[in-house]
Amino acid sequence: MSSRRDGPLMRNTAQSLNKSRVAITAAIGVGVLLGCVFAILFPHGLFSPARVYTSRVSNSNNAQVGSAPCESSERMNMLKSEFVAASEKNAELKKTVRELTEKLRLAEQREDQAQKQFLVLGKQKKAGPFGTVKGLRTTSTIVADKSVNPRLGKILEKVAVQRELIVALANSNVKDMLEVWFTNIQRVGITNYLVVALDEEIARFCKSKDVPVYKRDPDEGIDSVARNGGNHAVSGLKFRILREFLQLGYSVLLSDVDIVYLQNPFHYLYRDSDVESMTDGHDNMTAYGYNDVFEEPAMGWARFAHTMRIWVYNSGFFYIRPTIPSIELLDRVAGRLSREPRSWDQAVFNEELFYPSHPGYDGLHAARRTMDFYLFMNSKVLFKSVRKDDNLSKFKPVIVHVNYHPDKLPRMKAVVEFYVNGKEDALKPFPDGSDW
Ligand SMILES: *[C@@H]1O[C@H](CO)[C@@H](O)[C@H](O)[C@H]1NC(C)=O
Ligand SMILES: *[C@@H]1O[C@H](CO)[C@@H](O)[C@H](O)[C@H]1NC(C)=O
Repeated sequence: MSSRRDGPLMRNTAQSLNKSRVAITAAIGVGVLLGCVFAILFPHGLFSPARVYTSRVSNSNNAQVGSAPCESSERMNMLKSEFVAASEKNAELKKTVRELTEKLRLAEQREDQAQKQFLVLGKQKKAGPFGTVKGLRTTSTIVADKSVNPRLGKILEKVAVQRELIVALANSNVKDMLEVWFTNIQRVGITNYLVVALDEEIARFCKSKDVPVYKRDPDEGIDSVARNGGNHAVSGLKFRILREFLQLGYSVLLSDVDIVYLQNPFHYLYRDSDVESMTDGHDNMTAYGYNDVFEEPAMGWARFAHTMRIWVYNSGFFYIRPTIPSIELLDRVAGRLSREPRSWDQAVFNEELFYPSHPGYDGLHAARRTMDFYLFMNSKVLFKSVRKDDNLSKFKPVIVHVNYHPDKLPRMKAVVEFYVNGKEDALKPFPDGSDW
């Protein structure tokens, strides 16, 4: 053992010892002493939480070597239990890190949107250089108005997470589907969801199953629609009820009940638009828009006319932020549905969202985003293509909406069998489209 390998401290300490001692003995003594001092001063070692596992292991090894002469198996046992505790702590930390990552992602999303809003709403300024300018698509949210519906406000305070929740309207006609709906929502661990019960039976059913439920006051005028009205009348009601949620300051993921939840949709939203909706489209073109060329040979040189096309947004599954354009949309749709009783709510919803201003008409000008059609999957995509494709069928969507098929309940159950219970041929018995 050469003194040249030791540090300055070691050399100084050695020099201060009685010179009659053999240098080697001194070096060993000091080594042991330092080992003990180290073990006492740093029983937990020096490590950062992120690297707790590896640090802990190497530290306990060092400490064992250093402390062997001054302590014995007692120290060993202590270290062992410390190691076990550290492993448990490590698992906890991993969970915390996951949660923090999700929070960070949300915070970044919001900061990014706030920055963009500031950039656009701030004082007038010159345009930046080529390729650096960006318009506003994230409208600021309204000031919440609790007086609109204090009872609903209290429910939402309890149910919503980050001022967001899933909302579905249901009456007893859809009881069986509703059960599949909330069972899967509960299974994936979503807590921020609410059923708006349109009759007493559904309210009771939800309460018996621990499902958050809101039953409207029967005296409220629009609710007579709920009891007596057909499907389309209920659709109009949906837009009026939704308005109150937005006025109370909440973002709503409006959901039909013929939907199977396979993951938490709140992890997959962009939140940058007034309306973020699933599509009835089935591929990139139909879902996201394309240039459809219309040919008119009589026009000769100008025989090709270009048209813009997009498959409609599905008014049975969309995320809507509490903004003025969003509320204007709801009002416009509800207004038209009451004035034009034969109209279809989904067609009206899309016309209001997409038609531009023109002579005699002011368009809505709401910001829109189409959801990924493989993540937020309609039943045409599933039954016509995904189930037949070995690659695509291995990939788990966030939701499946059985909107394209009338035999909703059996197809919903088959979707659960396929994606949740891994039954590979669960989807096979069904035809691509309906049989009629
Ligand atoms: C469809 O669009 C996505 C991005 O939106 C892209 O990654 C993918 O390659 C496109 N698929 C086809 C077949 O064009
Ligand atoms: C699935 O993916 C593999 C590998 O990327 C590819 O070779 C194969 O053609 C794909 N199959 C289908 C049906 O698209």
